[in-house]
Amino acid sequence: MAGLALDSVGTASPAASIAVGAQVAPVAHAAVGPRGTGTVRFDRVCKTYRSAAGEVRALDDVSLDIPSGAIFGIIGRSGAGKSTLLRTVNRLEEPSSGRVLVDGGPIAALGTDGLVALRRRIGMIFQHFNLLSAKTVRQNVTLPLTVAGVEKREIARRVEEALRLVGLEGKAETYPSRLSGGQKQRVGIARALVSDPEILLCDEATSALDPETTLSILGLLRDINRRLGLTIILITHEMSVIREICTDVVVLEAGKVAEAGPVWRVFGAPEHPATRALLAPLTRDVPDDLAARLRPHPVPGGMAVLRISYSGAMPPDLSALVAATGGAVNLLQAGVERIQGHAVGRMLVAVGSTDAEARLRAIGLDVEGIGYVAADD
Ligand SMILES: Nc1ncnc2c1ncn2[C@@H]1O[C@H](COP(=O)(O)OP(=O)(O)OP(=O)(O)O)[C@@H](O)[C@H]1O
Ligand SMILES: [Mg+2]
Repeated sequence: MAGLALDSVGTASPAASIAVGAQVAPVAHAAVGPRGTGTVRFDRVCKTYRSAAGEVRALDDVSLDIPSGAIFGIIGRSGAGKSTLLRTVNRLEEPSSGRVLVDGGPIAALGTDGLVALRRRIGMIFQHFNLLSAKTVRQNVTLPLTVAGVEKREIARRVEEALRLVGLEGKAETYPSRLSGGQKQRVGIARALVSDPEILLCDEATSALDPETTLSILGLLRDINRRLGLTIILITHEMSVIREICTDVVVLEAGKVAEAGPVWRVFGAPEHPATRALLAPLTRDVPDDLAARLRPHPVPGGMAVLRISYSGAMPPDLSALVAATGGAVNLLQAGVERIQGHAVGRMLVAVGSTDAEARLRAIGLDVEGIGYVAADD
């Protein structure tokens, strides 16, 4: 897949592809439609659902710009309108009023052919993967290209490339039932990418996965974003996901934009009560003064704050913990309760080394990064 995006930029290095991707001439795949830069604009979008039960205003005057190459998070409580907003991008939902523009063009005006071409430029992945169980991994990934009438040799090349990109080269002939959740989502991602889209929509794509698999899928999405210069729009209930990979975020509350902007700003200084409520779980057991100092991104010379949770015969061995972090460790708060003979508790530590979180996971600890503090705070 990298090759597909890089065809147009010659030998550009993967790291350069976001910057370059915005300027390159679109690659024209006859059956797939031209590839644009992947910008999305919502212009006063409203959506009202009408049913026998009454009217629901799911989106209320939403205006937003999603720049090319962004990883854009949509958050908000259940029913806030997140899925509805995401689904207006490929016209799975039609706004009741207002406009959605992709690459600067209003998509409401597209006829049937135009809509088919648009949907090929916009991949989508789902919480429950939506794979065809009677088809192999290769057949699942091939399907969008067969439907698009892409030539056979080209299909084979692109499917190989997509499977390689998601790390499933060895699983091409396997059926979905034999795959783990993370592998199934990788198939979903390969299937979404095989048409060389410019935008990837993700509706709770990691919600069915355990924390470790979630991290690996997020890593893959970030990698894809960088290598292919793809714009990613994702919905999640996990604030740590947003903090981990998103560049920008919008908080929806009852169909309205409560707050939007770069993640560092929205999470660093949340202004709207809806944002604060969503972020509360991240800092649920953090003392107020420390919570106020927490920042969403690393600070040069600062420290990462980690929550280590434990439940076992004994709390973690502190000497092993300190040795594993490979740098400064400050204990901020800790507690142990004994429940039915088990030591259960949490500790908050500030650590100096940048890879401490991974190192502590490697020795089997349940670690969650909750933010960063500056040295002089
Ligand atoms: N097809 C529909 N018909 C009627 N009402 C709908 C329909 N789809 C969504 N709604 C309503 O619109 C509102 C927004 O729904 P939406 O699915 O966008 O929320 P969401 O933020 O994605 O929620 P969740 O986090 O639970 O997935 C809700 O009140 C929902 O009940
Ligand atoms: Mg939803």
